Amino acid sequence: MKKWYAVIGDPIAQSMSPEMHDAWFRENGINASYIPVHVKVDQLKEAVESLKKLGCSGWNVTVPHKTAIIPFIDKLDETARRMNAVNTVKVLEDGTLYGMNTDGQGFVRSLQEVYDCGETIGNVLVIGAGGAASGISFALEDAGFGPITFTNRTFEKAHRLSSGFSRSSALSFKDAESLLDKFGLIVQTTSVGMNFAQSGIPLDPSGISDGTIVTDIIYNPLETDFLRIARIAGGRTLNGIGMFVHQGALAFELWTGITPDTKKMIQSISTKLG
Ligand code: ATR
Repeated sequence: MKKWYAVIGDPIAQSMSPEMHDAWFRENGINASYIPVHVKVDQLKEAVESLKKLGCSGWNVTVPHKTAIIPFIDKLDETARRMNAVNTVKVLEDGTLYGMNTDGQGFVRSLQEVYDCGETIGNVLVIGAGGAASGISFALEDAGFGPITFTNRTFEKAHRLSSGFSRSSALSFKDAESLLDKFGLIVQTTSVGMNFAQSGIPLDPSGISDGTIVTDIIYNPLETDFLRIARIAGGRTLNGIGMFVHQGALAFELWTGITPDTKKMIQSISTKLG
């Protein structure tokens, strides 16, 4: 019987997940489809019940439901519990809803696919202190990166986030800018620079050392102003397409047991958005 999967969020029309998963289903000869479902905040409980009742085999969860969905999930994996956020749900044989979070690991995989790096990279600076920053940072710590320094517009949030990590600290944007040459890896996780969100840069990356790896989790536009300035200043840069594709690939693996072709997908999305 044909299986079906979904992504729930608000807004959802812009999501590239349906196209990506449908392509992987086709490529791997799997009889399944993947649909976007627009779910408003006050419809979440009802939506989860409907997805189950209608035989959905699993779904992705995006903004603004990643934390709000937790009370409706029966079993969480350790990463999702630690992050207090779920981006992937699998409906098990007995109907149990199993939730996990593949965002952070998706980021680390995409980084290591392009730049052969690990603990030798030295100090890491994470810009932002929201859900994306915390997920990525847990995954970086698990992969042996660090120490991690957090910087955020609202300093207090950076300080609070840093307290959950060993050897971690927090800086204001101004102090982070003046210490940029101390970091081997810089991860931009705020929404600043995203199409239709806010233009501009969260902080000026001109002061980086030559060869610093500078990443931005945004992929539309392909190169944010932040990444462009970092590249011109000698940074080795990476946009967010790889993270998006790898978080999806990890969900695909959980659902089907098959590892999809991520390289071809990254290429195809880059061409499309380029
Ligand atoms: P996500 O799950 O994508 O991380 P979030 O949890 O809402 O989303 O976090 C958004 C992050 O972007 C926060 O770090 C936020 O900074 P504040 O904590 O100060 O709000 C950051 N952010 C959003 N708009 C920003 C802006 N205009 N300038 C700087 N930082 C911004």
